[in-house]
Amino acid sequence: MSEQQSQSSGDIDTVMVETRLFPPSPEFSQAARIKSLEEYQELYDTAAKDPEAFWAAEAREHLHWFEPFTQTLQWETPDAQWFLGGKTNASYNCLDAQIAAGRGDRTALLWEGEPGDSLKLTFNELHREVCRFANVLKRLGIVPGDVVSIYMPMTPELAIAMLACARVGAVHSVIFAGFSAEAIADRNNDAGVKLQITSDGLYRRGKVLPLKATVDEALAKSQTVEKCIVLRRAGNEVAMQEGRDLWWHDLIAQESDDCPATPLDSEAPLFILYTSGSTGTPKGIRHSTAGYNLFAKRTFQWVFDHQEDDIYWCTADCGWITGHSYVVYGPLSAGATILMYEGAPNYPAEDRFWEIIEKYKVSILYTAPTAIRAFIKWGDEHVDKHDLSSLRVLGSVGEGINPEAWMWYYNKIGGGRCPIVDTWWQTETGGIMMSPLPGAIATKPGSCTKPLPGVVPKIIGEDGQEVARGRGGMLCIDHPWPGMLRGIWGDPERFQEQYWSKVPGMYLTGDNARQDSDGYYWIMGRIDDVINVSGHRLSTIEVESALVSHPAVAEAAVVAKPDEIKGQAIAAFVTLRVAEPTEELRKELLMHVRKEIGALAQPDAIRFTNSLPKTRSGKIMRRLLRDIASGKAQTGDTSTLEDYSVLASLRGDEE
Ligand code: WTA
Repeated sequence: MSEQQSQSSGDIDTVMVETRLFPPSPEFSQAARIKSLEEYQELYDTAAKDPEAFWAAEAREHLHWFEPFTQTLQWETPDAQWFLGGKTNASYNCLDAQIAAGRGDRTALLWEGEPGDSLKLTFNELHREVCRFANVLKRLGIVPGDVVSIYMPMTPELAIAMLACARVGAVHSVIFAGFSAEAIADRNNDAGVKLQITSDGLYRRGKVLPLKATVDEALAKSQTVEKCIVLRRAGNEVAMQEGRDLWWHDLIAQESDDCPATPLDSEAPLFILYTSGSTGTPKGIRHSTAGYNLFAKRTFQWVFDHQEDDIYWCTADCGWITGHSYVVYGPLSAGATILMYEGAPNYPAEDRFWEIIEKYKVSILYTAPTAIRAFIKWGDEHVDKHDLSSLRVLGSVGEGINPEAWMWYYNKIGGGRCPIVDTWWQTETGGIMMSPLPGAIATKPGSCTKPLPGVVPKIIGEDGQEVARGRGGMLCIDHPWPGMLRGIWGDPERFQEQYWSKVPGMYLTGDNARQDSDGYYWIMGRIDDVINVSGHRLSTIEVESALVSHPAVAEAAVVAKPDEIKGQAIAAFVTLRVAEPTEELRKELLMHVRKEIGALAQPDAIRFTNSLPKTRSGKIMRRLLRDIASGKAQTGDTSTLEDYSVLASLRGDEE
């Protein structure tokens, strides 16, 4: 395509060429659920030909129905309803259905606390705990549709609280236990929360953080919250407010462990989860019971090639969508053994993850690029101390993974034998949308490869048309899928406006992507992050990956800054692995990018920094860097920023 054409449709140039290809070993494929590209293609085509028939069959086979559904899909943009007339229950699918299938005495949950304490629950035991706590909820007057806010450490009780809500039809709103009192109060008020669940404290790097004290502050401003249940975890002193606050252990002591799951409409909301937009207040993303549960379960089985004896560890906190779909609902409703770890990856030492993998013989590991980049920086010696031979599948989620980090993960952690599933999805999509199926699809470092069955991605240029193969544009999804969000809590206009207006009839993801000549998808970053250099629109991740491929670089973030001649120029923020920031190194990095991807993508400025501003879930906040690079004051929501001191130092307050 000529340059002119590309500019007129407003699509995006690519400067990255990745030719490495990693097919699964024949042994892996033979034992896998989906064994070949042909088998994947067949499944994909079946789903594409008649999505409703495909999902109806899936739902009948893979969920328990108290009452069967009578209509598969009712769809009028932007409102989708799946499996109408049916009644099911996500807690039933995760527990009772597993017991009925003979898994009662199998391990459902392995847990390791940060101080080194641990716990194991079979499906029977987890079922009992969930029932007792569900009875507590009922005794406190919680009825289907009530919203319960959960602000807890990664303890088994966090999963128990979620499943107990699901059991009685309460809608949970899990708030990551690192958010401020202000953030909790905002979310509680937006959702009209009736009950708060928290713990006395939380262990983080050997210290105790006083969660209950934060909740006290939040509840002073949460008008609708009537009661607060407190789990004793860290033993720190807390103030219990008479008439409002109740101890978890007191409450469950009197409850029976029998509590039949409430049959719920397919479309009954299962949870809301707040996610920050780049502007405005956080949005309460609302998910359904049946469609969400089905999508989480099936994508879990496909993507991780889950087999009965796997020990599966997703390192995400339940405060994020990954923790909802791939710690709790997906794996448990597939009968998997899940591992939960409470604490920091570098406590008491930088080898904690590898120690845990060795101890529990973890076979599937699902983590985030931000963690992988930290491990690389901490050094190989921490990995080398441990036997990681139990691993067979590795997953990545949350951001694009730079090819260099991918290679390290593949070789150092996976011993060159474990397929990497780079999973692209969003809080809004409910589950994984694009990912390699590990036995079927050869991987390329940095690509999420192909869509899952039932997912129809389209790449659209600014002119509203599909872009040519190889070009980048807006990633949209063309047909409803069961796991899709059902709305933004209390704000149908924003739902319509944000996801359904720009490209009529399609779901707008907010990411850019391109498809390569093999049909593989490459995520190019957020639409807002595109850099326009002299009329060429470039994606952040490609320039960042070029920087990260230099041995001295640990992490890189690039953003646009205004430039009189070029329109926009590239500003790069770089953290180093071990080297000292010098003028030579700066020049060397500029030359390196030039050599790797060309002069056009060479940054105008490189700033060395000790750390980058990230969200609490580990994503680089390029929006803030953009403000800094152009010398503007910070705008928009910063409630998700992990460490405010990073901003001060980047603004040069210290220089
Ligand atoms: C980004 C996390 C590239 C993307 C499940 C998306 C990714 C946003 C990937 C959603 C990936 C997530 N490759 N980018 N494998 N996974 N993203 O809602 O920009 O926390 O839109 O959901 O993260 O983030 P969220």
